Amino acid sequence: MKFKKKILCIGAGYVGGPSMAIIAYKCPDCKVTVVDINHERIDAWNSNELPVYEPGLDKIIKKTRGKNLFFAKDIEKQIKENDIIFVSVNTPTKTFGTGAGMAADLQYWEKTARQILENSQASKVVIEKSTLPVKTALAMEKILNSAKGKIRFDVLSNPEFLAEGTAIEDLENPDRVLIGSHETRSGLKARQELVDIYSKWVPSEKIITSNIWSAELSKLVANAFLAQRVSSINSISALCEKTDADISEVAKAVGMDSRVGSKFLKAGIGFGGSCFKKDILNLVYLCSYYGLKEVADYWESVVKINEYQQDRFIANILRSMFNTLAGKKICILGFAFKANTGDTRESPAIYITRKLLMEHAEIIISDPQALKNAASDLAGVKGSIKYVEDPYRAASGCHAIAILTDWDLYRKLDFRKIYKSMVKPAFLFDGRNIIDHKKCFAIGFNVYPTGKPALSHFKTENNS
Ligand code: UDX
Ligand code: UDX
Repeated sequence: MKFKKKILCIGAGYVGGPSMAIIAYKCPDCKVTVVDINHERIDAWNSNELPVYEPGLDKIIKKTRGKNLFFAKDIEKQIKENDIIFVSVNTPTKTFGTGAGMAADLQYWEKTARQILENSQASKVVIEKSTLPVKTALAMEKILNSAKGKIRFDVLSNPEFLAEGTAIEDLENPDRVLIGSHETRSGLKARQELVDIYSKWVPSEKIITSNIWSAELSKLVANAFLAQRVSSINSISALCEKTDADISEVAKAVGMDSRVGSKFLKAGIGFGGSCFKKDILNLVYLCSYYGLKEVADYWESVVKINEYQQDRFIANILRSMFNTLAGKKICILGFAFKANTGDTRESPAIYITRKLLMEHAEIIISDPQALKNAASDLAGVKGSIKYVEDPYRAASGCHAIAILTDWDLYRKLDFRKIYKSMVKPAFLFDGRNIIDHKKCFAIGFNVYPTGKPALSHFKTENNS
């Protein structure tokens, strides 16, 4: 079969893999190839056990793989053969030198740009899919167009807004697709090529175009705004715990104002995931770089509240369990940074587990998808850690349960059965407010929700 367009994606991660699968699925006349320096990852994409867990992804892969979607290892050859190249390599926070702990580490991006240049024999459109600091495209363009010749590279910014756990849904029905380009003749032509691809399944009013810097900045700001809502509600949850207010009632009342909106107002143990913290710190670095100290401080406080929320959760466990956790068994229900994913990057569970281990608690971790990642996150950490997939077996014999991920299956657990198998007094810390607190209190648990008064059987404890 002759394909109309040949598309390559460098980086077969959480973003590159699913987003290319959808392009292949929606555009059968395009050949889509995904490459990665990590050959094990490519092997996994070609196997029955995909490297990324996303509801609905395996179905799409089955329909496209080997037809117009290919996972390959020969990066250089693929660069030569494709005309449109997405770059979705990781851009972690820099750990060294200027901007360490804040700025984005762009070494993989730059290396990839040089690799594209060295292996191109014809003009290409290069698309930023990774989240990058504003003006990265400029640097990339300089590298790509440094060899004087007939070959031209047009750089576009097409940030991805998918959320993990709902990636397929988000890709099939996006709120918007954003494409940034230079407003020159060739920039606009390149932009149109990408618009044509998305038009196959995204309504035209949802495909928005902008200048390249606006597109780059919009991605950082979108994530910063979302994270800021989580920190805002979490900050108020602390106040609710001190008063008789209930954070769910407050969030409902506030969110019903259509100007505010109801989404992203769930109090919990703080946000995790590979993007929020990294992107905010990136924004903070940019603001500081441009001398905007007050703006940088404002956004940095979103990260500070996130850390504060996790520390509060740990302090609450310690205080409620008579200020000692040594030798006590604590069952962690959920290690992924959110439900419906096996991803544990920046998961609050990592920090919370480490802190509990420092108190010499014995930890039993349960999660339906993330146990492999949890074991690798905690490799080398001192203390007693067990991994048990079945939540009933995990909780049996424990002094306390801490719910750290909002997996639906935890809502449906038989807490009466669990209570019977635990050491008494049994404690339940609901870091995600997903279970029926009154029911669990009636069963016998001492229940500690987030942002609501505790339900304790100890007469002396101040429930507020
Ligand atoms: C990545 C970025 O981290 C994020 O900023 C952006 O918004 C989307 O792309 P993600 O897909 O979640 O997010 O990252 P990850 O799962 O780590 O995948 C990146 C892949 O790139 C890895 O498989 C890595 O092996 C690959 N890679 C990295 C290359 O193929 N070449 C490189 O030079 C570096
Ligand atoms: C986010 C953005 O939503 C997405 O648009 C972007 O492309 C990548 O970053 P993701 O990190 O996959 O996606 O998950 P998201 O659903 O945004 O959740 C992030 C974190 O915030 C999770 O730890 C989640 O549990 C937490 N969260 C979210 C809350 O604590 N409360 C909420 O109300 C919403």
